[in-house]
Amino acid sequence: MNINVVGSGYVGTTLAACLADLGHDVTAIDIDEDVVAELNAGRAPIHEPGLDELVAEHAGENLQATTAYENVADAEATFLAIQTPSREDGSIDVAPLEAAAEMTGEALADADSDHLVIVKSTITPPKVDEIRDAVAEGLGESSSRVEVATNPEFLREGTAVEDFLAPQKVVFGTDSAWATDRLEAVYAPLLADHDTHVVQTGPETATMIKYANNAFLATKISLINDLGNVCKEFGIDAYEVADAIGLDDRIGEQFLRSGVGWGGSCFPKDVAAIIAAAREAGYDPAVLDAAVEVNDRQPERLLELLDEHVDVEGKRVAVLGLAFKPGTDDTRNSRAIPVIEGLKERGADVVGYDPVATENMREQFPEIEYADSAGEALEWASGALVVTDWDEFAALDEAFDAMEESVVVDGRRVVERGEGITYEGLTW
Ligand code: UDX
Repeated sequence: MNINVVGSGYVGTTLAACLADLGHDVTAIDIDEDVVAELNAGRAPIHEPGLDELVAEHAGENLQATTAYENVADAEATFLAIQTPSREDGSIDVAPLEAAAEMTGEALADADSDHLVIVKSTITPPKVDEIRDAVAEGLGESSSRVEVATNPEFLREGTAVEDFLAPQKVVFGTDSAWATDRLEAVYAPLLADHDTHVVQTGPETATMIKYANNAFLATKISLINDLGNVCKEFGIDAYEVADAIGLDDRIGEQFLRSGVGWGGSCFPKDVAAIIAAAREAGYDPAVLDAAVEVNDRQPERLLELLDEHVDVEGKRVAVLGLAFKPGTDDTRNSRAIPVIEGLKERGADVVGYDPVATENMREQFPEIEYADSAGEALEWASGALVVTDWDEFAALDEAFDAMEESVVVDGRRVVERGEGITYEGLTW
């Protein structure tokens, strides 16, 4: 098929490259000329394992990029993968997505073929109609058959290509059998090879599935964190408890790692957005509010455990791990942010270390020190806080010897409780 992907950010680039890999002819459309030039030169504008290879393989063949909408009508479908930034109150701003939807509509106005516009961006159910309206606005009086569908993504950072090419489920949110057929044609090469569940539903329900998915997972982590805090009060190891409850199929063993909480570009944004949308509709989602509250509390509990052993004012404290999870340089909503803020409030000299995320954190906190290795960060430190579960933090025994006061508070259960250190686990 001939398919357009509007927006070459994280999701859009992954989508465009993977669709090309499935054998489609893909045109990536982005307003940023640098991004378009990168793609056409065979380089991915974002970092994701396996993506560079796919872009290099397909660029100039069945993947091209452009800033122009003029050939949109040559394709049978257009995905909209435009960011929906958060507003102050947590709700999402769909203005950029609406603008892209309207331009797509305009580009289709003179075509006499039919076309499916597929919203890939994460939008709350009430926003679907706004996108339908924006496309209709662009189409004007045109009699072309253009429908809007939704098709949420469930990709994880660090495994996005893998997740796209072997999904557990795909969700088609459509208003007609015609639209469902077209979405099925898009995914046909992938569905033929994998044991993937296809969920067929309406556009609004499909967007709700995405929010429910992320809200459920984030709440699962907050619940195990809440229970983990109770365990800590009782001197019980929350991981032993989690391993046991995970044996119950109804609970499941995944996403039961308690600690300093969830971050990243999806969970915090999506949970806030569905809470804001619910509230706007007149409902207060109590459990989701509590999930956010527990998540906000975990970094403070990490700091309080440090306070129990050392007064950090004027002392050097190492923050080990700045990325929101291992395997990425992404620091968006990383738990390291409130941890660093809390240390600064206490008057500590903060030194951060991360194998790949230092530069991103430096933009947010240019005033703190950054070390080139965990060992360097720990030298003369009076405390160490582990915020990201990078494997390398499991082998720091000797580096801890170089600390002034060897107080290690682990927020991810990655450090071995060795001899000669005062070790505290957040929930164990
Ligand atoms: C998540 C969803 O998994 C994905 O389906 C969705 O499309 C986007 O959001 P991602 O943000 O890449 O993906 O990261 P994920 O691996 O899910 O981790 C999210 C956060 O939860 C991280 O901060 C991680 O450290 C934390 N986490 C995860 C825990 O604290 N405990 C766990 O048991 C699992």
